Amino acid sequence: MTVLALETSCDETAVAILRGRELLASEIASQIAEHEKYGGIVPEIASRNHLVQAPRLLERVARTGKIDMSNVDAFAATSGPGLASSLMIGASIAKALAIGVGKPYLAINHLEGHLLSPFFSDGAVKPNVSLIVSGGHTMLIRVHGLAGYELIGRTVDDAAGEAFDKVAKMLGLGYPGGPEIEKRARGGDPARFNLPRSMLDSENFSFSGLKTAVRYLLPKLGVIPNEREGSRIRSVDHLAPKRDQKSSGRSFAPPQDDSVILDDRVMNDLCASFQQAIVDILVRKTIAAARKYDVDLVTVSGGVSCNQELRRQLGAACARKGLEFKSAEPWLCTDNAAMIAFTASLRLQAGFESKVTEEIDPNLALA
Ligand code: KG4
Ligand code: ZN
Repeated sequence: MTVLALETSCDETAVAILRGRELLASEIASQIAEHEKYGGIVPEIASRNHLVQAPRLLERVARTGKIDMSNVDAFAATSGPGLASSLMIGASIAKALAIGVGKPYLAINHLEGHLLSPFFSDGAVKPNVSLIVSGGHTMLIRVHGLAGYELIGRTVDDAAGEAFDKVAKMLGLGYPGGPEIEKRARGGDPARFNLPRSMLDSENFSFSGLKTAVRYLLPKLGVIPNEREGSRIRSVDHLAPKRDQKSSGRSFAPPQDDSVILDDRVMNDLCASFQQAIVDILVRKTIAAARKYDVDLVTVSGGVSCNQELRRQLGAACARKGLEFKSAEPWLCTDNAAMIAFTASLRLQAGFESKVTEEIDPNLALA
């Protein structure tokens, strides 16, 4: 069975073809550069880009996968949650192809795509407690099996990825913020700054207090945080030259613009402390849920699950409690169409199909 899927829920255009368990092709066109100059995602620009990119990617996956549309058994697209005008592009293309070729159409929930991505390589979905951590969502789900989901807890304010992105912006780091903070955190001390871990006894999450704590800490380090435009911070190795740098001719003169110099060590320690606070919250709540609902398996997915520290610490915590742990492979963590094609193929096998009149839903719920 061959499934072609489109994912256009936000600022990434993605198309993939899955034949059985074999991924024939998977293409992603990122729009980060298009939105960067506006300091955030502009829906109108996102949908216009999807309209340009989707036909190009369709042509490319057909070429790479050596497939003609008439060989595809079903067409799928993300139908929510996401930006309405972006969702419409992918869904309209998939519907048009399904009608044109006379094959089924499947409307797929983006979050179900993330949720099932840890099973991509082995195919069978087992009962588990699943942590979905992305730029738009942070939730714990009790998974009974395909299409059997119960919400355990969700964020009451920012998503974990959103907290990474906002703090990175305050620190003058690039977008997306998660990978930038992770890079910095590798050389930092996670115990240097004492940052809050909110709502630890609840099944829900809250990250806005943590973000605010970083904002209040910055002036004490000599930085005036600017969340809208991003803080003007320059980071240097150390303010005093090291012995082995004396001969390098490096200049430690103050910067010519009005940016603030933040010692590299302080920056790295702050990133490590912030990352550790998020990891502590995610690990603690996930393990508590797994024990409460008495499952043997814990899964993690979504963009933030690319984070190596989260994977390592959640994996270690599961091992200590005798729980099996499965994470989506790193290339499947951030938004992609392979996870949508995989979800569609499992659903198709289980007898699900959508009407071509089914609407997109920007607030589509998973459970
Ligand atoms: O799943 P995704 O691609 O999009 C949504 O559905 O939201 O997730 C994107 C989010 C961004 O907030 C990004 O900063 C975060 O995932 N992210 C990370 C890492 N890589 C991506 N967060 C922490 N560490 C990472 N290595
Ligand atoms: Zn996503």
